[in-house]
Amino acid sequence: MKSYRYALFDMDGVIVDTAKYHYEAWRRLAEGLGFEFTMADNERLKGVSRMRSLEILLEVGNVKNLPSDRLEELCRMKNSWYIDYISKVDKREILKGTVETLTLLRRNGIKIALATASKNSQIILERLELKDLFDAIIDGNLVERPKPDPEVFLKAAEALGGNPDECVVFEDAYAGIEAAKKAGMYAVGIGDNSNLIGADMVIPGLCETDQILQLFN
Ligand code: BG6
Ligand code: MG
Repeated sequence: MKSYRYALFDMDGVIVDTAKYHYEAWRRLAEGLGFEFTMADNERLKGVSRMRSLEILLEVGNVKNLPSDRLEELCRMKNSWYIDYISKVDKREILKGTVETLTLLRRNGIKIALATASKNSQIILERLELKDLFDAIIDGNLVERPKPDPEVFLKAAEALGGNPDECVVFEDAYAGIEAAKKAGMYAVGIGDNSNLIGADMVIPGLCETDQILQLFN
């Protein structure tokens, strides 16, 4: 088996349990617009950018032809609720195994990057004191094309000084798995097999430390 040298981690739903706050803010927005937005609908939003998420949500609610300034306003509303939620989070929201696994990888000489679509990564990493676990941070402020475009992962590999075929991506979103495969990387799905078609391997979470370390031996 090939041995990898670089590990790229998505943020929401992989290292921190923030996906539920994204959902809560989107659900609240939909409610205000007069339609229901279910958890099943929300699966389509995972991994994709804020504006793309809004477009999908409006599609679900059959809301059409809003002018761009209204779209911007709706994104701002959603984000202000989301920031309210995450400004109260504490270390209990760090997903199990994150600190242990990333610390061990580093100890084994593996370089680590955060590769997320979120523009709120600084707030979350600072609040949860996770910043020091990463050698590079590439977030939604640094990429132009959202997942499933491979840009975020290619930029993260470049920031670490690695080639795509030396990288392992950890992702909980289908759009992220697609992006990782397009980047020519090994994709580890986090969560449920049925949502992560195309992943090279699926594990329940970063608590599977031994299985993860084996990829880098
Ligand atoms: C991704 C989330 O990590 O970031 C998406 O899975 C979210 O649900 C996207 O829409 C953008 O995040 P933010 O924090 O910039 O709105
Ligand atoms: Mg995610």
